[in-house]
Amino acid sequence: MKKLENKRQEKVSYSRILGKGKRILIRPYHFSDYKMCWDSHLARRPLAGPFDEPIPACKHSKVSEFKDRILRYRKHGKEKRHYVFAIFNRNQKRYLGQVDLWIINETLRWANVGYHIQNQFFGKGYATEAVQVAIRLAIKSLGLHRIEAAMEIENTSSRQVAIKAGMIREGIRRHFLPEHSHSDFEVFAINAIDYAKGNTR
Ligand SMILES: CC(C)(COP(=O)(O)OP(=O)(O)OC[C@H]1O[C@@H](n2cnc3c(N)ncnc32)[C@H](O)[C@@H]1OP(=O)(O)O)[C@@H](O)C(=O)NCCC(=O)NCCS
Repeated sequence: MKKLENKRQEKVSYSRILGKGKRILIRPYHFSDYKMCWDSHLARRPLAGPFDEPIPACKHSKVSEFKDRILRYRKHGKEKRHYVFAIFNRNQKRYLGQVDLWIINETLRWANVGYHIQNQFFGKGYATEAVQVAIRLAIKSLGLHRIEAAMEIENTSSRQVAIKAGMIREGIRRHFLPEHSHSDFEVFAINAIDYAKGNTR
């Protein structure tokens, strides 16, 4: 069984990954996404709160910097360390944000899902849809077992996204990240067993 799942993981090429939701699509960035990303960055509204920040991939005013970043993402995806996906609407005419799967432990097939929407599109359910698609890809295509999301306790919208995407609250990690003023983080997770049984939140 384990061998089978590992094989499945080996077969999936990062550059070919594509996941679809009802309104959104996620896939790795292409160089040609530069203009759409930069335009969406320029269209951002003033920061909506303490957790709102520009999406790093879209902050580059120079196309060469954007390309370097995409090459880094490709390298990490190929190495199966970190899978970064841009979120678009279904016809790929509008860039909405980013969702990523960062492998915490390869042997345990355990990843963290991160999500980030351009603030002009907040509150439309895009993050929830993208996280649902990323979880499906993680379990069905990448053969991962456990996907978690961890956020500062005050990050209510992120918490809502984890819950609405079907993740189950597991508890608090105290004084979690040194660079986040040692804040406590709340942890939500879903695993392949929950997913198969439809046994989510
Ligand atoms: C977190 C984030 C991705 C959510 O994106 P989004 O597309 O607006 O999310 P959704 O529309 O799918 O859902 C947002 C939910 O949060 C709720 N919400 C938003 N602000 C809230 C607040 N201040 N208090 C309570 N709920 C709030 C919305 O009502 C919605 O829930 P509902 O559908 O049950 O009403 C977005 O706010 C973001 O990019 N933030 C900055 C980066 C970040 O914090 N990422 C998570 C890191 S762990």
